[in-house]
Order: sequence, then structure tokens, then C-alpha cells
Amino acid sequence: MRAVQIVELTGPDSALALGEVPEPSRPPEHMLTPGAGVLVEVHAAGVSFPEVLQTRGEYQLKPPLPFVPGSEIAGIVREAPEDAAVKPGDRVAAFCALGGFAELAVAPEFLTFPLAPQLDYAQGAGLILNYHTAYFALHLRGRLVAGETVLVHGAAGGVGTAALQVARGLGAHTIAVVSSDAKQRIAEQAGAEAVLRSDGPWKDEAREISGGGVHLVLDPVGGDRFTDSLRSLREGGRVVVVGFTGGSIPEVRVNRLLLGNTEVIGAGWGAYAMARPELCRDVGRALDPLIESDFVSPIVGARFPLDRAAEALREIDERRATGKVVLDVSPG
Ligand SMILES: NC(=O)c1ccc[n+]([C@@H]2O[C@H](COP(=O)([O-])OP(=O)(O)OC[C@H]3O[C@@H](n4cnc5c(N)ncnc54)[C@H](OP(=O)(O)O)[C@@H]3O)[C@@H](O)[C@H]2O)c1
Repeated sequence: MRAVQIVELTGPDSALALGEVPEPSRPPEHMLTPGAGVLVEVHAAGVSFPEVLQTRGEYQLKPPLPFVPGSEIAGIVREAPEDAAVKPGDRVAAFCALGGFAELAVAPEFLTFPLAPQLDYAQGAGLILNYHTAYFALHLRGRLVAGETVLVHGAAGGVGTAALQVARGLGAHTIAVVSSDAKQRIAEQAGAEAVLRSDGPWKDEAREISGGGVHLVLDPVGGDRFTDSLRSLREGGRVVVVGFTGGSIPEVRVNRLLLGNTEVIGAGWGAYAMARPELCRDVGRALDPLIESDFVSPIVGARFPLDRAAEALREIDERRATGKVVLDVSPG
């Protein structure tokens, strides 16, 4: 089968090679579910920050070279275990962790979900990593409830657009922070009620719009805006830490937490969720009604064929990406 492999750790420009690799062994088996797995004919593969980091050997998951990257896919089930919730022929979205940049990939049953008819394969390839993370970070870790106001950094990105949609679906008010006009339009499309600029006085604007401070900040960016995130909170507010695309890991002066009775909360979906199949199923069930009611509808930005995977990774690396970057693997 055709697949893109990471063959050296030299960054998106030169690390990738398209070629023929053996198909997954049969019966299909995923590393998270020894002896079992769902074999999927991949129509679209999602591209995310971890794949960029993997081309430099900077991600926590470091398989021996060469390996096929690609953590999430959408396509059609070719083989599934008897007791799985999906069966051959089903359209699915799946999180495979690795191996998604290929014509066939294997995912664990508990991270393979029927793809709702209103979503196409490209959207399905952007569904699990970002939306499960958004629900986990906002609701399960951040305790966001209807009527609260959430401020989302990096709001035109993959996690950001997902967080805006999930927050609206949970009945929250949304404020987005972005760096450009183009990204403002994407944030609005994702459901931001107000969009602020990261190079402007967003902290003061957010406090004013929210009537004295936001309840929750969702932060996939980190860096030097973190202190202002804390200052933008109302009494009892929470900052949920999701990532560090800004390049640096902020430090907190904890007196600020005491003064406002505020909290800083970590939200790490990946390893935590992969060790908890029932949590993954619960989040999938929680997202279903948000998909049916059109709150959740992944915004696909740039799309590339498999042989241009390096360009897809550069979109993310060079801060151009909006919504989800997707590889079209087979026509669908
Ligand atoms: N904790 C978890 O479980 C979890 C799960 C999934 C992803 N993540 C992490 O969340 C982060 C965001 O992922 P994503 O898929 O949303 O990425 P993305 O689509 O590339 O969006 C990231 C956003 O970060 C902002 N940004 C600020 N400074 C940047 C810089 N120097 N370079 C690039 N972007 C910069 C950009 O927004 P502006 O230009 O508007 O500022 C960009 O839109 C990543 O670090 C990822 O690893 C964490």
C-alpha cells in the first residue's frame, strides 16, 4: 500500500518519503488493544502539531525510524472485531495514534466511531483529536457549564475552532483571540461571539465584554500571554492549559491564584484517554448530539494529496493553518 513515512528527523521539508509499505498484518491489531483492531480504508487523514514535532524527533511518542505518522483518519471499515460497535462497510472516524498517512490503517475499537452522515471524510479526519480534547478540556477538566463565558486562544486553529464549537454546544458564551483578519473570519465561522486580536488589549476587552472577567480560558498557545490570561478571569475563574504553540512554557506567580480564587488546570487528553476506553466512549456519546444539532462541524482548511504531506506539515509549522489540515488519501 502507499504510505508516507518519516525516514529521518530533519523537519517537515526533508523528513518524509512517500513509498510502498506492507499492509497491516491480519487479523488487524493495534498497540493499544493487543490481538484486536479495526482495519480502515483511509479516505482522509488529519494533520496536527504532533506530526510536525515527530519530523524533528521532538514528540513524546518516538517510534524507531522509519515509521508512518498520522494520528487520525476517516474512511470505511474493512475488518473489525466481532464485538466492535462498527462493522465492515461502515463510514468511520478513528484515532489510530500512528499509521494514518497510509491507504490502510488500524485503530483501537474504542477510538473508532461511526461517522455522522452530515460530515464528510475530511471533517471526520478532524473530529477525534481536537473535539475529544476540546470536550475533555472544557467540560471534564474545566467544568464549563451553560451560561459561562470562555475565552479561547489560538481560536482559528484545530483545537481552537473545536473548542469554540463545543463551548457553544454546551451553552457557553465564546470570546476568541487570534492574530489576523483571516483567522478572525475562521473564529467567527466556528461560533465566536466576539473576536479579539492577540496583539491588542485583549485582556481588558475580554473583561469588559464578559462583564468583569471570563469564567474560563482555554489555552493551546502558552508563552507570554499567560499572565494576562489569569488577569482576564473573574473571581473563581479557571485557565485550562492545553498546549504551547507559542513556543515557551509559561511560569505562574501563584499569588495571582490566591488573590482571585482562580485555578490553573492541566488538560492532557492523549495518554490519559488512551488508557481509559470507557472515557473515550463517553466523550464520543457526548459529542453525538452536538454533531446532530450542527454545533460540531469540523472546519477544514488546507487539503493536500498524500504525496504533498510535507506542505501540509509546513502549513502548521509556519502558523498559516486554519481549522483542520487534511490529507486526501483515497477519493471519497
Ligand atoms: N492537551 C492535549 O490533550 C492536546 C490535544 C491536542 C492538541 N494539543 C496541542 O494544542 C496545541 C494546538 O494544536 P492545534 O492543532 O490547534 O494547532 P494549530 O491548528 O496550528 O493552531 C495553533 C494556534 O496557535 C497559535 N500560535 C501562537 N503562536 C504560534 C506560533 N509561534 N506558531 C504556531 N502557532 C502559534 C496560532 O494562532 P494565532 O496565529 O491566531 O495566534 C495557531 O492558530 C498544540 O500544541 C498541540 O500539540 C494538546
